[in-house]
Amino acid sequence: MWGGRFAEGPSAIMREINASIPFDKALWREDIRASKAHVAMLGAQGIVSEQDAAAIADGLDTIAAEYERDGVPEDWDLEDIHMTVEARLTELIGPVAGRLHTARSRNDQVATDFRLWVRAANRRAIAAIAALREALLDRADEHAGTIMPGFTHLQTAQPVTLGHHLLAYYEMLSRDAARFAAADERLDECPLGSAALAGTGFPIDRDATARALGFACPTRNSLDAVSDRDFALDYCMAASQCAIHLSRLAEELILWASQPFGFASLPDQLSTGSSIMPQKRNPDAAELVRGHAGRIIGAGTALMVTMKGLPLAYSKDMQDDKPPVFEAANLLDLSLAAMTGMIAETEFHEEAMRAAAEAGYATATDLADWLVREADVPFREAHHITGEAVALADRKGCALDQLPLDELQAIDPRVDERVFAALSVEHSVASRSSYGGTAPDQVRLRVAEAREALPAS
Ligand code: ARG
Repeated sequence: MWGGRFAEGPSAIMREINASIPFDKALWREDIRASKAHVAMLGAQGIVSEQDAAAIADGLDTIAAEYERDGVPEDWDLEDIHMTVEARLTELIGPVAGRLHTARSRNDQVATDFRLWVRAANRRAIAAIAALREALLDRADEHAGTIMPGFTHLQTAQPVTLGHHLLAYYEMLSRDAARFAAADERLDECPLGSAALAGTGFPIDRDATARALGFACPTRNSLDAVSDRDFALDYCMAASQCAIHLSRLAEELILWASQPFGFASLPDQLSTGSSIMPQKRNPDAAELVRGHAGRIIGAGTALMVTMKGLPLAYSKDMQDDKPPVFEAANLLDLSLAAMTGMIAETEFHEEAMRAAAEAGYATATDLADWLVREADVPFREAHHITGEAVALADRKGCALDQLPLDELQAIDPRVDERVFAALSVEHSVASRSSYGGTAPDQVRLRVAEAREALPAS
C-alpha cells in the first residue's frame, strides 16, 4: 500500500510491532460506514465519478456482509483495519478501489472511526446505567422502611433505611450517566476531511460527511482533529468514575453477604461455589466488578501516559490508544450488566439488618438529641450523658431502650420515661425526615421524583 519508495519490505519484527489489525478489526463497522460517507461525498462533489463511487459503495457493502458472516481476516502485512478493507475492495472491484482514499488519510480515517466507536460506547453506558438506576429505584421502593445500621468508619453510627442506602448509589449513577452524556456531546464533531494533518486541496464537503455520520459539525482544526484523543479519555474518565461507584457497591454487597454480616444473599446465578468447601457461595461477580474497576482506571491511565508527550500531529504511538479503551468498555459493559442483575435479585435479610441496627447502640444520638430537645441540655453535655448510658448498657449487655429508667436517672435525673419512645430504631429513622434524609417518607418521595425524571425505557 505504501511500498513505492522502499527497496526492501519490512522485517518480521516490523510487521509484528506495526500490526494493529488484531485489535482494530473491532472498528470494521465504523470504518466501512465512514468510507461509505466519504465516497458518497466524493461522488456528489464530482471528485470521483458517480459510477466509481457507486462501485466502491457496492464493494464496501459486500465486504460488510462478508465480515458479518465470516469475521475480519487478520493479515499482518495489511497492518490495520483500514488497509484490510481497502485490500479486499481492490480484490473485489479492481483498481477503481484506489479512488476511495482520495482526499483523506488513515489519520483522519482512524480518528473518525474511533470517535464513532466511542460515541456508541458512551450511549451504551448511558442505557446500561439507566437499567441499573431503575433496578435501584425498585429495590429502594421495596425497602423504603427496612431498617439497617448506617456506618461511619464501618462502625455502627445511626440507623438508616436500606432504601436510602440504595438511593445513594442511584444518585452516584445519575451523575455518571451525566458524565457520559457530556462526553458524548463534546465528541460530536467529525474529523473526516482533516486528511493527514493539514486538510486537503480537493473540493470536499465536510458538512455533508459530518451529517451523514451523525455528527453535529466538522472539527475546526485539522491538526487537532487527527491528534486529539480526549474524546476517548473523556470516555475513560467517565468509565473510571462509574467503575469506582460500582466497585463500592460491589464491596458492600460482598460484606453484606459474608456470614458475620448476614445482611444479604446474592443470587445463585451471579455466585460460584468452591471446589473444596461445599458450603461456600462466593460473590465472584461482585468481586470481579470490584476488580475490573482497577483495569478500567488503568486504561485511562495508559491512554493519558501515551498521549502526554506527543508533538502534533499524528504519531504511531496513537495506535496504542485503542486496546485500553476497548478493554475498559468491555469491562464496564459487563460490570453494569452484572450489577444490575445483582441489585434486582439480591435477597435482603431484613431481620438481620434490623438486629444489627439495634445491637450497635445506633440510637445513641437520638438519646442525646432527646435530652437537648426535651430537657434543654446543651448538646455537648447530652453527648457525655449518653456516653455513660452506652457504657452502662454495654456492661449490662442490653440495648439502650432496655435500660431501667432508675439507672438512667442515676446518670442524669432529667431523663424521664418518654425517652424510650425516642430510642427505637423506627422512631430514629422516621425522625430523620429532613430533605434527603433517611426517613421512609423521604425515600418514597425521592423514588417517586426519580421515576419521573428517568427517561422512559
Ligand atoms: N492503524 C493506525 C492507528 O490506529 C492508523 C493510522 C495510521 N497512520 C499512519 N500515518 N501510519 O493509529
